[in-house]
Amino acid sequence: MKIKKIAILFSGIGTNLENIVRTLHNREFFDFKIEVCVAITNNPTALGIEKAKEHGVEVVVLNHKEFCDRESFDKELVKVIKSFDVDLTILAGFMRILTPVFIENVKAINIHPSILPLFKGANAIVESYNSNMKIAGVTIHEVSLELDSGKILAQQCIQKIENESFESFKQRVHELEREMYPKAILDYLVKL
Ligand code: GRF
Repeated sequence: MKIKKIAILFSGIGTNLENIVRTLHNREFFDFKIEVCVAITNNPTALGIEKAKEHGVEVVVLNHKEFCDRESFDKELVKVIKSFDVDLTILAGFMRILTPVFIENVKAINIHPSILPLFKGANAIVESYNSNMKIAGVTIHEVSLELDSGKILAQQCIQKIENESFESFKQRVHELEREMYPKAILDYLVKL
């Protein structure tokens, strides 16, 4: 049976990472099996490191502070990803601005907690919560040179609830992320 290999890039808690590993790793879909070959982080204290290891996924830590600029970090990142010969790279809370060194060499998709093109960047959930919009949501897109701007692959909304606390709102956005990302990854891999 064909194996489709993925790498996951993360920087923090790793809830999406864990959810992807739980739902897709070593599982068979149609005529192929998915293997999460490696989880790579730029943050040596990321909580996701333990989560990946608990599921038997190899972790590589590339501390960005040890590189003199973004290009040299990305160069090493590309080298590590290529060494695992993956079909697709999944960004799951990877808090790095990527350079052409990465974009031109790696096929990658990302999840963003807003209805893009609205609320790009690192404060999407707060900005979406504070906005006048009646809806919020999650977008999965291809990674391109401009931040949070690649081709949209999947997008879903939730209704805002009047007087809902930020914590409750954030939790509902994260629940939607967990529902959407494995499905979108699978859809993408089927077409590769
Ligand atoms: C998620 O909200 C994701 O959309 C954003 O970063 C967050 C990562 O959370 N890009 P986690 O590390 O998966 O818990």
